[in-house]
Amino acid sequence: MHWSDTFYARQAAEAGVNTADIHPSSHALAARLTAHLGGPSRLLELGSGGGQFAVAAALLGHDVTAIEREPLLASHSRALAQKHEVRPDIQQRDFFTVKLPASHYSAVCCWDTFGIGEDDDQRRLLARMAGWLAPGGRVYLDVYTPWYWAQAAGNAPQLPGFTRDYGFDPDGCRMLDTYVPDDGSGPFTQSLRCYSPADLRLLLEGTGLQLADLWPGGSYDVQAGRWTPEVPLEQAMSYTAILLARS
Ligand SMILES: C[S@@+](CC[C@H](N)C(=O)[O-])C[C@H]1O[C@@H](n2cnc3c(N)ncnc32)[C@H](O)[C@@H]1O
Repeated sequence: MHWSDTFYARQAAEAGVNTADIHPSSHALAARLTAHLGGPSRLLELGSGGGQFAVAAALLGHDVTAIEREPLLASHSRALAQKHEVRPDIQQRDFFTVKLPASHYSAVCCWDTFGIGEDDDQRRLLARMAGWLAPGGRVYLDVYTPWYWAQAAGNAPQLPGFTRDYGFDPDGCRMLDTYVPDDGSGPFTQSLRCYSPADLRLLLEGTGLQLADLWPGGSYDVQAGRWTPEVPLEQAMSYTAILLARS
């Protein structure tokens, strides 16, 4: 069994991650994306968690399809959509296998989810994204940076009922995020592949996509307990890669 078959279900059910209402950061991201696209569009989100971004984007007029594998999170997303009186298409599916219309979406978004498998899995997913993009469309892809995660041990934000540890696998270049429940029910860990922009360009070869631009992401200061949403790329936990069809 792969770690992702259980990690997100436990993270949601036991730690409540992604089960809240829409955070202002989701509204801000939806607004930034809308401005970048020049207006509402046909938008596909992969690994949409509890639907906070999907609903925020639908509230701005986007026609949203959201793919989320975990039943608890898909049903939370539907409840959130109902509460906010919008109708995104929430599909409880696996983004590695879901069937979606080709050449259809102006934007394919993947927030805080990329890097779950091995490089070949990532390439397969990127090629699928390329196939779903309408002409002129863009992929917005959150990518974890090796430099942040290589020094992230001891830097994890804590949650009630758990000890949370960050770590790094230097050989596989993967961030490690471990939850140890206080009740002794056994730890669970996610392990995401990290890529510099140069590594991402190599990964993209043969997928039909190219790196056009990037937005540096944020950084967490554990001493101050403060999240800064945008820092220089060399300090950032992640960046959003903006990908276009290769010409
Ligand atoms: C770290 S969460 C991010 C959620 C959301 N995008 C956000 O930014 O808050 C990753 C999400 O991807 C989902 N996921 C992981 N693998 C998936 C797959 N193969 N197909 C669909 N969803 C998947 C998980 O269930 C989880 O909700």
